[in-house]
Amino acid sequence: MADTQRKIPAHVAIIMDGNGRWAKKRGLPRTMGHAQGAKVVEQILEDADHMGIRYLTVYAFSTENWTRPGTEVKALMNLLRTYMKTSLAKCAKNNVRIRVIGDKSRLDPDLQDSIRTLEEATKNNTGIGFQIAINYGSRDEITRAVRKIAQKTAAGELRPEDITEETISDALDTAGIPDPDLLIRTCGEERLSNFLMWQLSYSEMYFTDTAWPDFTKEELEKAVDAYNHRERRFGGLTQ
Ligand code: FPP
Repeated sequence: MADTQRKIPAHVAIIMDGNGRWAKKRGLPRTMGHAQGAKVVEQILEDADHMGIRYLTVYAFSTENWTRPGTEVKALMNLLRTYMKTSLAKCAKNNVRIRVIGDKSRLDPDLQDSIRTLEEATKNNTGIGFQIAINYGSRDEITRAVRKIAQKTAAGELRPEDITEETISDALDTAGIPDPDLLIRTCGEERLSNFLMWQLSYSEMYFTDTAWPDFTKEELEKAVDAYNHRERRFGGLTQ
């Protein structure tokens, strides 16, 4: 498709699957797969930005991932720690705005601090919005949102009959960010795994067998091409 005709999705969400399998195939520890995966995230963020994608959201650590062996959890947290610390200068240079979604209260205090610093330092940037889901689960996010709304109704600030879909969207961690147009999941699995279940209601889904550490700009282009061949009707009829 000619570039002039191609629609670029405003928001792309990615379930980065297959780090462990990628490492195992090479006889490496699983944590090496995550380390390579983290490098790929940085490259894809740049590629997405150059392609004109306005928001990129990645699933880095789910509420269920705590059940993995302690060493793997630690390695993932260390990768995220390093990312938060080393990204300040890069985000300033590339005009990237960072938001971490998920329940941050369970993270180590130093990681919470570096997340706060990075979010604060990048909040006025006007380039691509990069959302990193850490200790994120859609059911947990919706539960926390319902709690916030219930507190407002209990305090007499909001009448139950005034609760709309917008009230709920605004109480989610993704408040103010448009819903994803396209969801990509790598390494052959075709499930949502508790990721953005409210926000993905009308998103197009793209699945590839490529493991996340092997994901490239060409793969992203392929996903965008596939998106261009979908007809989005949002529950309506074809014209
Ligand atoms: C799924 O692969 C991947 C994860 C649970 C972690 C994803 C995290 C990263 C790529 C690092 C994030 C870093 C930044 C900077 C945002 P898996 O381990 O479930 O793979 P498997 O299914 O092959 O075992």
